[in-house]
Amino acid sequence: MSKRSCDRLIYRGLLFACAGFLACTGLALAADPATTEPVMGAPEMRAPLPLQEALSWPLPDHDTAKALGNVTCASSTCHGSIKPWKNSHVLQNEYVTWTHLDKHARANEILSNGRSQKIAQKLGIGDPTRAKICLDCHTDNRPEASRGPRFDAADGIGCEACHGASENYISSHVAPGATHADNLAHGMYPVEDSAARARLCQSCHFGDRDKLVTHRIMGAGHPRISFELETYSMLEPAHFRLRSDDAEHTLLFDGARIWAVGQAIDVENRMDILLDVKRNHDGIFPELVLFDCHSCHHPMSDQRWVPRTAFGPSLSPGIVRLNDSSITMLAILAHQLDPALGERVRSAAAALEAATTGQGDLLQSAQAMKSLAEEVAARIARTPFDRAMLYGTTLALIDQGLSGNYVDYAAAEQSAMAISSLLDFGSREGWISDAPAVNAQLTALDATLTNDEHYSRDQFQTRLKTLRATLTRQS
Ligand code: HEC
Ligand code: HEC
Ligand code: HEC
Ligand code: HEC
Repeated sequence: MSKRSCDRLIYRGLLFACAGFLACTGLALAADPATTEPVMGAPEMRAPLPLQEALSWPLPDHDTAKALGNVTCASSTCHGSIKPWKNSHVLQNEYVTWTHLDKHARANEILSNGRSQKIAQKLGIGDPTRAKICLDCHTDNRPEASRGPRFDAADGIGCEACHGASENYISSHVAPGATHADNLAHGMYPVEDSAARARLCQSCHFGDRDKLVTHRIMGAGHPRISFELETYSMLEPAHFRLRSDDAEHTLLFDGARIWAVGQAIDVENRMDILLDVKRNHDGIFPELVLFDCHSCHHPMSDQRWVPRTAFGPSLSPGIVRLNDSSITMLAILAHQLDPALGERVRSAAAALEAATTGQGDLLQSAQAMKSLAEEVAARIARTPFDRAMLYGTTLALIDQGLSGNYVDYAAAEQSAMAISSLLDFGSREGWISDAPAVNAQLTALDATLTNDEHYSRDQFQTRLKTLRATLTRQS
């Protein structure tokens, strides 16, 4: 595997330990005093959608309405303001943030670069800028019938690729008294709902029944996909407010819950692909992206097998393991909500593991795990993270690592993103007294993950131990 493709872990520490997110990234775009403009829309605390509704909401690439194109959103009196508006819960400078800082704006250009050409050549798919298999994730590749006259797929992944085709909400969403419910009824996609958002982002940042970064695509040189909903929502970067400007300073972005729901939906999605007869095989082999990359990809001289007992008796050496990092996170989370629920996730995970070795019915275990993930997602959507839940979950994530259960890179990487997401949320809630000390520990933890091919469980554990000590002084 090429080093560049795999060695990178997205860095984020406690972004909110410093003055402002964009200031931390070294960009002063949002740091200026805000422009005063008329008040637009009061912040609404939006209740999560019923889970089944979020899971069945059509994704924007299935819109039947027309997408009108980014230019339609970009005027300076709409979302193209240079500075964020004051007294408006919508910043109105989203277009500027997107064009300057958001990689989605360049996702289509990537397909013309040398790396993409090589991938396409190895796959024998011709020009990658014309190959549906690439365009489906690197542009807003909606059907012709859903493209308005000013829509341009060359814009990459634009506003409507996430927010839905605007034909039917473009005028109504700015009408006086417009509510979010009206917007949704007119074709806006519910990105604020964590389960609906998780499905949307994961449809490209892993795949779904329609598209997938398969092991064949990876084998041709596509970067390994790593994703965690909260971390990636922050790093996109966020073009939305995290808190309202009102006197209560209401929290609009519940990062801990976004992390948690993201994990549950990740499990749901992976089980769905495992259950999909079109997807779960590649010839006589299973679809290998569902498995832990490093259980196959490492030098034979590096004998790294150790037992792992997170879910019960360890699998024996020489077995390819599923990438079950989100299942590991889910088990920890479920245990915090209710120890009995945690036990059910653990035994379902053990059954699934056993089934991958031929003991038990794989499809039945995947189905059981999928239903459990949905149950946990529905529970989390109703349970706010308080201080006790936050510290409980974070320490449990650390302890799982200290007991040696992050044997593979993928689980260590997910746990590091989880710990950062939770502590970032805690820091915004004012539950962390010494944020700079915690931030330094997180930076050191991330440093042990910068190269997946040289991941050392011992180094990772040493960092977890120090972080634990720093945290227990604060909790
Ligand atoms: C299921 C969705 C999906 C498919 C299919 C897909 N990609 Fe990607 N691709 C992604 C995502 C998501 C990333 C970003 C990964 C990250 O940085 O976390 C990416 C990253 C890349 C990168 C690295 C970009 C960079 O900034 O260095 C290249 C090159 C690339 N893809 C090319 C291709 C080509 C060529 C195809 C078609 C053969 C393709 N991709 C198919 C989702 C997809
Ligand atoms: C990759 C997906 C993605 C893209 C592309 C994207 N957005 Fe967003 N947008 C989001 C997410 C996620 C949120 C957060 C919603 C929340 O938590 O309330 C958001 C929030 C917003 C909000 C705040 C909504 C509110 O009620 O608080 C506005 C306005 C917005 N986006 C406009 C745009 C515009 C304009 C563009 C194009 C320039 C754009 N977005 C591109 C995903 C996206
Ligand atoms: C239509 C497919 C698609 C959707 C939907 C999508 N992404 Fe992406 N995303 C991509 C691709 C492709 C890239 C790689 C672009 C590049 O490297 O130039 C990317 C890149 C990113 C990056 C930069 C990663 C890096 O390596 O720096 C972040 C962060 C990100 N996406 C977050 C999100 C979030 C959060 C959502 C959901 C709100 C989302 N994306 C939805 C396709 C998508
Ligand atoms: C069951 C074992 C197995 C798993 C799991 C697996 N791979 Fe592979 N991978 C292979 C085999 C076999 C090849 C073909 C090697 C060859 O052609 O020499 C391969 C080839 C590759 C190549 C091309 C290497 C080359 O020399 O051209 C890349 C890159 C790659 N895999 C990435 C991944 C990623 C990323 C994952 C995890 C998402 C993954 N693999 C999971 C077995 C696996």
